[in-house]
Amino acid sequence: MLSIVNSFGLNGLNGYLVKVEVDVNRGLPSYDIVGLADISIKESKQRVGSAVKNQGFSYPFEKITINLAPADTKKEGSLYDLPISIGVLSATNQILAQKEFLNDFSFVGELSLDGSIRKIRGVLPILITARDLGIKKVIIPFANASEAGFIDGIEVFPAKSLREVVQFLNGELSICAVKIVSYDFISSHSEASGDFSMVKGQASAKRALEISAAGGHNVLMIGPPGSGKTMLARAFPSILPNMTFEEALETTKIHSIAGCLDSKTGILTQRPFRSPHHTSSAVALTGGGSKIKPGEISLAHNGVLFLDEFPEYSRQSVEALRQPLEDGMITISRSMSTVEYPANFVLIASMNPCPCGNYGSTQKKCTCTPNQIHNYLHKLSGPLLDRIDMYIEVDGVSYSDISSEIHEESSIEIKKRVDLARQIQVKRFDKKKIYSNSKMTNEMIKKYCKIDDDCNMLLCRAFESLKLTARAYNRILKVARTIADLDGSDEIRAEHLMEAINYRSLDEKYLT
Ligand SMILES: Nc1ncnc2c1ncn2[C@@H]1O[C@H](COP(=O)(O)OP(=O)(O)OP(=O)(O)O)[C@@H](O)[C@H]1O
Ligand SMILES: [Mg+2]
Repeated sequence: MLSIVNSFGLNGLNGYLVKVEVDVNRGLPSYDIVGLADISIKESKQRVGSAVKNQGFSYPFEKITINLAPADTKKEGSLYDLPISIGVLSATNQILAQKEFLNDFSFVGELSLDGSIRKIRGVLPILITARDLGIKKVIIPFANASEAGFIDGIEVFPAKSLREVVQFLNGELSICAVKIVSYDFISSHSEASGDFSMVKGQASAKRALEISAAGGHNVLMIGPPGSGKTMLARAFPSILPNMTFEEALETTKIHSIAGCLDSKTGILTQRPFRSPHHTSSAVALTGGGSKIKPGEISLAHNGVLFLDEFPEYSRQSVEALRQPLEDGMITISRSMSTVEYPANFVLIASMNPCPCGNYGSTQKKCTCTPNQIHNYLHKLSGPLLDRIDMYIEVDGVSYSDISSEIHEESSIEIKKRVDLARQIQVKRFDKKKIYSNSKMTNEMIKKYCKIDDDCNMLLCRAFESLKLTARAYNRILKVARTIADLDGSDEIRAEHLMEAINYRSLDEKYLT
């Protein structure tokens, strides 16, 4: 007998409907899966067989053929264990529910040998797809229930075991659908390790990071060892603006696919802060691998990617960031499939200016030869550096600063200004699917970054003396727009533009 059960597949962040067709017929006992299934799906044979028997059902000693339609799309993962088992039980009349009733449902879940349902990856994008496709009811693993709390318009039933699902379908047991939680009621406590009030002095670096947080601009901090670069970067998440619901949903989708959401986290309320070590490979940073998974840059989507000791990353890893830094997404191509993941992040990088670390310091003498300094700084490629909006010099802290009892401004106070500036941007880009000045397109720059003749002169002089590129020109205007927003000003005035140009001029000092 034939039975057809609904399930889903994932391609990048987008899901699609998969019809699991299970045919149980007379013949020599066998278990064949067709429809471009990967090895983990083929291994379902053992899991399904044991789970069905251990839950007290009978497993047919007949010829079982399973087709995953559409048959020309590669499918992977263990989420088909549950729909296959339901198909087998329905085809052998162990589920009493009518076929039409079963049609309203979709199933995803991995089975363990005892028949309990285990957590899977990617439930959030699957549920969004299900709702968009008009599927009314989905059965998911209980451990994934928290991911379902933000999708309305669909009934989601979390189940713990195969028997529970069958009893539910037979009307012998009721399972409560997941309740919808309002995003506004979720507390968003900061996970930042540190507060700006702990960092003594460094006023100009703090100001630059405030601008970066407000507009989402990339930053490179250059300075001697022990000046507080890493400390500032680690405190940076504490001044980032709150995520909008759309941003939170986008980021959570990626973390759901990567399988790094814990069972309690329904939706991420904090912007992610990823700090991969400098030995990380290009694949770890950008994503991919034999089973394509999002990399660090996608996990940092709508948050921060912190690359400490920037020149120590392999050239290949760092160069791989060029395209995503420009496009805000990454395309990974394999022979069988192409996958796109969003990767809109703020890059915060930090480095010493030379091997001894003291080049350019006002407090210590540099002991490196000009050649050593040149080689160290030129480990970073020009095109990558061109994508950085702000260069900040973080000089060593003086004794008077470090021992001072003066109250340093706390992250909460800075965040208030950042939030106000971000609200202006959210209003400005309403319905344009971008949330910060750094993501403005060239047309938007023309529209929102108008400058008067004096400013034009100023920028023209800077362009020529600093030998800026067209990209740098656009990026300066975007930073100037954020500075004006922080100032509550509609127009970009000369002082805003001057400050933005200033953040590009360090590039001249160190990197030419
Ligand atoms: N401005 C500062 N105020 C208070 N403490 C500081 C400051 N700068 C550095 N420190 C102290 O020094 C330690 C080292 O600082 P940090 O690791 O941030 O330096 P760094 O600039 O990243 O150095 P490196 O270039 O060697 O990585 C911090 O953990 C902190 O205790
Ligand atoms: Mg450091």
